[in-house]
Amino acid sequence: MTDKHPVLPPEEIPAIAVGSMNDTHHEEVALVNALGALLLQAVDGNADIPAITAALDEWIAHTEAHFSRENNMMQEYGFPPPYAVHAQEHSSALEGLKEIQRQWNDDQNVEQLAGYVFNSWPQWFQMHVNSMDNVTAQFLSNFVD
Ligand SMILES: [Fe+2]
Ligand SMILES: [Fe+2]
Repeated sequence: MTDKHPVLPPEEIPAIAVGSMNDTHHEEVALVNALGALLLQAVDGNADIPAITAALDEWIAHTEAHFSRENNMMQEYGFPPPYAVHAQEHSSALEGLKEIQRQWNDDQNVEQLAGYVFNSWPQWFQMHVNSMDNVTAQFLSNFVD
């Protein structure tokens, strides 16, 4: 953890077999680190609420595109049964993320959002990339870069 990468240093993103998926994960982590930096600034008493709201919106839009790209690739290349499990994990993660966004938009509670961004999310992300994305990428690497 550094000032520049307060949530997750990019070198801690598990590398998987498809380059475009790795690129997406790096983009996402950059967005979350930017949000994390704004949250740390807020915890220090210097909250920029509109900037946090915008960073959260940008992250969620990116996550939606990320998950639907993976879902589409799995469907397009006929990824066998684990597809349903992987897609299900995407939809529950996105649901959770949108709930966090709704709460933030309601109450602008910095501690609550920071708890999610710094604790819950990195654990989920690393677990997901290491398991679901890893297996999926091994399969997809027969078809895509
Ligand atoms: Fe992914
Ligand atoms: Fe995934």
